[in-house]
Amino acid sequence: MTMHQEIRRYLINVDSIRTNQLFTDCLIIGAGIAGLRAAIEAAQTCNVTIVCKGTLQDSNTWQAQGGIASVLQSNDSFGSHINDTIAAGCGICDKNIVELVVKQGPGLVKQLFDWGTEFDLENDNIATTLEGGHSSPRIAHAHGDETGRIIASALIKKVKADTNIRILENFYCIDLVTNSENNDCIGLVGSDSTRGTQIIWAKSTILATGGAGQLYRETTNPDVATADGLAIAWRAGAVLSDLEFMQFHPTTLYIAGASRALITEALRGEGAILLDNTGLRFMPQYHESAELAPRDIVSRAILSQMLKTNTTHVYLDVRKFDKDHFAKRFPRIGELCESFDIDVKKDLIPVRPSAHYMVGGVKTDTNAATNVKNLYACGEIAATGLHGANRLGSNSLLEGLVFGRIAGQQASNCRNGGLFEYKHPAITYTIPESSRTRLDTADVRNSLRALMWRNVGITRREQPLKEAQEIISFWQRYVMDKVFESPKGWECQNMLTVALLMAQAAQRRTESRGVHYRSDHPETDDKNFKKHIELVKQ
Ligand code: FUM
Repeated sequence: MTMHQEIRRYLINVDSIRTNQLFTDCLIIGAGIAGLRAAIEAAQTCNVTIVCKGTLQDSNTWQAQGGIASVLQSNDSFGSHINDTIAAGCGICDKNIVELVVKQGPGLVKQLFDWGTEFDLENDNIATTLEGGHSSPRIAHAHGDETGRIIASALIKKVKADTNIRILENFYCIDLVTNSENNDCIGLVGSDSTRGTQIIWAKSTILATGGAGQLYRETTNPDVATADGLAIAWRAGAVLSDLEFMQFHPTTLYIAGASRALITEALRGEGAILLDNTGLRFMPQYHESAELAPRDIVSRAILSQMLKTNTTHVYLDVRKFDKDHFAKRFPRIGELCESFDIDVKKDLIPVRPSAHYMVGGVKTDTNAATNVKNLYACGEIAATGLHGANRLGSNSLLEGLVFGRIAGQQASNCRNGGLFEYKHPAITYTIPESSRTRLDTADVRNSLRALMWRNVGITRREQPLKEAQEIISFWQRYVMDKVFESPKGWECQNMLTVALLMAQAAQRRTESRGVHYRSDHPETDDKNFKKHIELVKQ
């Protein structure tokens, strides 16, 4: 049985005439690599407003360790990067998009370098390393394992210096505003703690809100990654694609009380091995590439080994690494381990898989355009077709960079010469008062995250997927009829909306492909499922 979602058009009452209003040409929601790169591009020809719900530092980009994949060495080739990406994507990558992203990569990575990104160098060229699924060392990194922070810092500096760009931090986008006559996106309704509810009218809008890892109890993602972008796009009528493809990262630090910090795959790329609690190196039993097998295979192997040995985690062994090399190449992980008294020269690092990257998202075309007029999407929120059913490590920063630029360029052009004069029909939307009791949204959120981990996690089956939908639908009945006044409530509503869609998509795909593994349908079924599952609000 497929559950029905009761979805309002807006999460709050809207009365545009009585609400504070701002105006901009190009509105960008989100400030990871895609949003920042889009802003730089768009600001060349129009004024830009970036809103982000935390600070500019609260993004998955900021936390990225491994790096950015691109063909930067003379013994590598576009063909090889294209083939690796397509092989990881398990039959459903869009080849044109893969070619576009791979070929634009080197130029845009070098541009990042010219803009001040301090990539690690070797013989004066950008140094590269290997990661699972890549057949050549093509991962550029910066300050060792601080790649995301270093790239984002360079982009933030550029954005802050641009007088055409206004930045609104701690601004929560509650919903996109659309013209109900032609479903044209004309801005957003949002809120910040000082000025309350505001409408930002925009000629074009770019969604770059990032991921959805917080839907799971175990995740590498920051607190802000609560799937808001997917939910607001859904309410505005955007097509969502591939939501069943949540990528789990095999190695996340597992210590009670510690945040589930990523332990980068680059460590395995440089020789780290996985051991179980008996000291057995188990990965060779599961795949010929052992620790460098695709992420979904390593994640499932770890789960299976945990089950066999009745433990909550396995271990990453980096003891053979040269101490100085480790300190220079992996400073952040070194610091993290030290803070839990783990001496990486002597001790093993406890790890287990966790939700890491939303492969699916808002469906976009080669221009980063969605099906909603004047709404674009880029970065993790977008489903461009690059990743197919499984993202190759470090292809995401690359995708954000390439499609950030495209989205910025397209969005800044989209109404040039048009008649848009910020004259909109007044928007009013009224929600009946709910007489139900007050809610502990933190409890709903924690329960949802536990349910998603158990029932819509690394290994899926029909019955738990159905049960998840029934439970989420039940929670929705009393959470979705409320009008909240702060982000925690809106986030909770968004998380329920997207979780239900993910469980529905995962139930519909009765096969295993890429990161989506059904133990009741372990085979890949090309006849029926070599395609995307698309969802749109009816
Ligand atoms: O393991 C990592 O450093 C992750 C990289 C990625 O998800 O692209």
